[in-house]
Amino acid sequence: MRFEKGMKVLVTGGAGYIGSHAVRRLKQAGFETLVLDNLVYGHQAFVPADELIIGDLEDRDLLARIFKEHEIGAVMHFAAYAYVGESVTAPGKYYRNNVSSTLNLLDAMQQAGVLHFIFSSTCATYGEPQVVPIAEDHPQNPINPYGQSKLMVEQILKDYDKAYALKSIRLRYFNAAGADPTGGIGEDHNPETHLIPLVLDVALGLRPHITIFGTDYLTPDGTCIRDYIHVSDLADAHVLGLEYLLKGGESQVFNLGNGSGFSVREVIDMAEQVTQKKIAVVEGLRREGDPAILVGSSAKVKAVLGWNPQFADLHNIVSTAWSWHQKRFGASS
Ligand code: UFG
Repeated sequence: MRFEKGMKVLVTGGAGYIGSHAVRRLKQAGFETLVLDNLVYGHQAFVPADELIIGDLEDRDLLARIFKEHEIGAVMHFAAYAYVGESVTAPGKYYRNNVSSTLNLLDAMQQAGVLHFIFSSTCATYGEPQVVPIAEDHPQNPINPYGQSKLMVEQILKDYDKAYALKSIRLRYFNAAGADPTGGIGEDHNPETHLIPLVLDVALGLRPHITIFGTDYLTPDGTCIRDYIHVSDLADAHVLGLEYLLKGGESQVFNLGNGSGFSVREVIDMAEQVTQKKIAVVEGLRREGDPAILVGSSAKVKAVLGWNPQFADLHNIVSTAWSWHQKRFGASS
């Protein structure tokens, strides 16, 4: 009974960008959800009030209480800090929040006998790629504390599987983008650092221009290439991963990308096409720590979980982001 459909999934960071999309997909798939979010970056409005516990993973007593008071069957863990630049200047914050707090969560799970875990990892665990597209067996040499903190949790999960049979799916995201086409949730970071929302800010007249970080990369147009994946497709993979574990599947690691790369200039061109606005561009210097090309192979997740992205093309990704962005940040909002 405990692990069947209709069971309750604890979603940490479920009021954030990717977490809120996963909550939506979980419900569509017939699961109940309970969100734990400290609302440092999450948005209360993204989650139904009666499903939200406002609290922090640092709080071990709270975690013990949650597992005692609710019949939780599995955990999806999105709560983390994810600013690569900040992780370099304030590493302690990242190791504490992303690693130490995750240990609190895993220990509370283990003590409660909850042994299914879906983890948000990142392509940043690979560091500078040696070959593209990057497959799961590519060496992992993160070049910043953010990527390092996620890699540490990946290792912890392998050890918790051996010690406690805590089964996990580690999902290494490439560049999450877009928004649920049915509306109400989307990307809303403060501060915003990601390319697509910043470009859409320019289209809305909220910023004067977009600065391209480097035009001298060894790529066809000189700008960095990334693998953009729609957040709803990401969310689908989480639900598929959970169902796989619930059927008795072993722990797994999967990349989540579209397998095709787009340059910064191509993204800007697509935004001009979608928004029908001219996007002013300033050519700036490279941003430290940006690999020239990051493109992932998602062959494994397609083969093992049957993942089939619905919004794989960039037009769809930017269009759904634009619909959300206008509603959230436009003049009439
Ligand atoms: N970029 C610009 N100008 C901007 C912002 C970004 O040119 O104002 C460029 C970046 O240099 C990069 C591309 O746009 O080439 C995408 O940048 P994002 O900041 O949107 O995304 P990142 O690729 O840096 O980051 C993503 C995830 C991180 C993850 C990282 C792994 O958001 O969580 O990939 O490298 F760690």
